[in-house]
Amino acid sequence: MAAAVASKLDILKANEGLLDAEEHLFSGWPEPGKDDDNKRRLLSQLRQLDSSYAGGLLKYISNAKKLLKDSKEGSNPFEGCVPSVPEGKKLDFGSDAFIELENAGIAAAADTAFVLVAGGLGERLGYSGIKLALPALNGNRRQLPLAIMTSDDTHARTEALLRSHAFFGADPAQVTLVKQEKVACLADNDARLALTPGDAWAVQTKPHGHGDVHMLLHSSGLAARWRDAGLRWAVFFQDTNALVFRAIPAALGVSAARAFDFNSLAVPRRAKEAIGAITKLAYPDGTSRTLNVEYNQLDPLLRAAYDPEGDTNDDTGFSPFPGNINQLIVSLDSYCEELQKKGGVIGEFVNPKYADAGRTSFKSSTRLECMMQDFPKDLPSTARVGYTSINQVWAAYSPVKNSPADAAAKAAGGNPSHSATTGELDYYKANCKMLEHVGACIAGPSSASFNGLEDLEFWPRVVWPPAWAIGFDQLKARLPKPSAISLGQDTVLIVSEPNASLESLTLERGAVEVAGQGPIVAGTVSNDGWTWEPLDEDKGAPEEEVIRGFHVVRHAIETLK
Ligand code: UTP
Repeated sequence: MAAAVASKLDILKANEGLLDAEEHLFSGWPEPGKDDDNKRRLLSQLRQLDSSYAGGLLKYISNAKKLLKDSKEGSNPFEGCVPSVPEGKKLDFGSDAFIELENAGIAAAADTAFVLVAGGLGERLGYSGIKLALPALNGNRRQLPLAIMTSDDTHARTEALLRSHAFFGADPAQVTLVKQEKVACLADNDARLALTPGDAWAVQTKPHGHGDVHMLLHSSGLAARWRDAGLRWAVFFQDTNALVFRAIPAALGVSAARAFDFNSLAVPRRAKEAIGAITKLAYPDGTSRTLNVEYNQLDPLLRAAYDPEGDTNDDTGFSPFPGNINQLIVSLDSYCEELQKKGGVIGEFVNPKYADAGRTSFKSSTRLECMMQDFPKDLPSTARVGYTSINQVWAAYSPVKNSPADAAAKAAGGNPSHSATTGELDYYKANCKMLEHVGACIAGPSSASFNGLEDLEFWPRVVWPPAWAIGFDQLKARLPKPSAISLGQDTVLIVSEPNASLESLTLERGAVEVAGQGPIVAGTVSNDGWTWEPLDEDKGAPEEEVIRGFHVVRHAIETLK
C-alpha cells in the first residue's frame, strides 16, 4: 500500500491533469520503494493546496497561466474606461456633520460585525511578533461578533494572545478565528509550480493576500449567520492602524445614510502619492463601477480619458480622487447575496519581477494574490459603492508598517513614516484634539525626535478605553464641565475606569490615572509623571521599544478615584 500511494501511477489516477501540467515535479522520482516518505510529503502538500483553493489546484494553475500571459503582454485592465470622481462624503474630524454621522454610526454599530484581517506577517515593520500584539490600550466590551483572519504565520500567536488577555474583555463566543492558507509559487510563465529552494519534495508557498477573507467568510458560514441574526453591516479593518475606530463610526453613519453596499474609508491623497485611489470607472459596455485603482495605474488612466496632465492636485491641494486606507464597510444583505454567487472568490492578480526585457523569466518565483478591496469589481453595476474621506489624516490613518530604518528614509524623502513611533504619537494627538474640541484646555504639543524621526508633534499622552467614549458626544457626557479640565505640556492622562465622570482637573505636570467613577473633582495636580526617553541603542531594549525608539520611565502617577 505504502509503495502504491507513492507511485506515479497513483497520482496519475488521482489527478491526470496535474501530472500533465506539472510533470517536472515528478519527472526525477526514483523507483517505488525509494524516498517514499518524501513522495508522500509532496503528495499530501499537493492535496492540501488542491483542497484549500476554490476550484482546486488545476484551477489555480489555469488562472495563473491567463494572468501571467496578460502580464507578459502588458495588457491594460482599464482599456477604454473613463474615470470620474465617485460618490462619497468628505468630512472634517469633529465638525457638526462628522458628529451627526458619528452618532448615527454608533447607533448602527449595534447591528455590525467586525472583521480583522491579521494574516500578514508585517515584514516591512521588522518586528518579530504579530502586529496584533502591539500595545494600543484598546478593548471592546460590546457583544458584537469579531472574526479574525489569521494565517499559518499568525494563527497560533493570535490565539495565544487572545487567551492570555482573556479575550480583552470580550466573550470568547464573540470571537471566531478563520485561517487562510498559502498558495503555490510559480516558477515561470507556464505556471509550473516552484519547489522550495533546498527541498525538492515541497512546493514553495506564499501568502495569497487579504482578499481571502471574503471566501472564508462564505465557506465558514459566518457572513450568512450574521445576516440571519439580524446584523446589517460588516466592518473590515487591518492590524496596523489603531486610529481606525476614531473614523469608523462616522463612516458607518455614511453607509447608513446613503445606503452604501460598499464604503471605503479614505483620506485626502496628494497626486502621485503611493496609495490606491477610489475611482468611478465607466466601461465601454455602458456599465460603471467604483473601485480602488492602484496609484501606478491611475496616472495613465487619467491621462487617457480624464485630464491630459494625469494625476494632479486640484485647488484643494489634493487629488480629487480620495486615497483608499482599506478599512471597508459592507452591507451584509448585498454582501451575502454576492458571496452566494461566486463563493467569495475575488479577482486575483500576479506581479512577477521579470529577469529579462522580453518577460520570459522571473527573478524569483511569483504567485497569485488577491486584495479585499477588489470585492466591488464583481458587484453589479447598480450596487451603491462609495467612500468616506476624513480630511485630517492624523485622525484616521497612521499605520504601523515600516521598520525604523525604512521609516527614517521615508521621512527624509518628505513622506509619512508610517512607523510605530508615529502610530503612537498620532493616537495621542487625535485624543487631545477630541478633548480640545469638546472644550478642555490642552497645552500644545512639544517637539520630539525618536529613531531619527525629527520634529514630531508630541501631544499630552491621553488614552481611554472605548467603553468610556467612542465619539465626541460620549466624550462630552464624560466631562460635564469641560472647561474645568486642563492638561499641561507632556502630561499623561490615563482613564482606566470606563464609567468615570471627570468634573475638574488641572494637571500642570506629571501623570494622572482616573480609576474611579466619580464624579471626580480634582484640584491642581503636579508630579514627576512619566517620561518618554529616547533609546540608547546599546541597551538591548525589547523589540516593542526598539521599533518606537523610546522607553517610558514611570516616575510617579496620581490615582484619582
Ligand atoms: P499589509 O499590506 O500591511 O501586508 O497587510 P503585511 O503582509 O501585513 O505586511 P508586509 O507587507 O509584510 O510588511 C494589510 C493587512 O492585511 C493583512 C495584514 O495582517 C494587515 O492587516 N493580510 C495581509 C492578511 O490578512 N493576509 C495576507 O495574506 C496579507
